[in-house]
Amino acid sequence: MFAARQLTGSKSEQYDGLLEQARALMHGERDRIANAANLSALVNQALPDLNWVGFYFYDGNELVVGPFQGLPACIRIPLDKGVCGAAARTRTTQRVDDVHAFAGHIACDSASRSELVVPLVRDGALLGVFDLDSPSPSRFDADDQRGLEAIARAYVESLQ
Ligand code: SME
Repeated sequence: MFAARQLTGSKSEQYDGLLEQARALMHGERDRIANAANLSALVNQALPDLNWVGFYFYDGNELVVGPFQGLPACIRIPLDKGVCGAAARTRTTQRVDDVHAFAGHIACDSASRSELVVPLVRDGALLGVFDLDSPSPSRFDADDQRGLEAIARAYVESLQ
């Protein structure tokens, strides 16, 4: 049974703790849906001030929604659209302090104000993106970006 563990210490220490929990949760499992589902649930309960956490998978043409926590979301996102498309296309993390100022942002949940999208790449191939939304502007800082990129890397490694 999963027991939520209190994250303590500095923000980067808290992310170290969350990464450890993420690795433990995915240990011995390679299924991309199973690990994405559990990771969405873990991150959603561990981090405050989020309204959407989840995965989009690249189907060779566009992004298709995968496991997530939050309101029902847009199902398909072309690579030339939205914050998710930008992360997938450029293969760089998109940290957006104000989604209303991001040209082409796709509002799946009108409550979203800031967003962090980490691309998932394995051996040069795009697998999808890990997307987090917050109802607060500028919710994500550089520590959040580093911590969530490490968790995204652990997810990609779990599939091998
Ligand atoms: N806002 C995203 C779309 C996905 S939802 O946030 C779940 C975007 O602009 O790509």
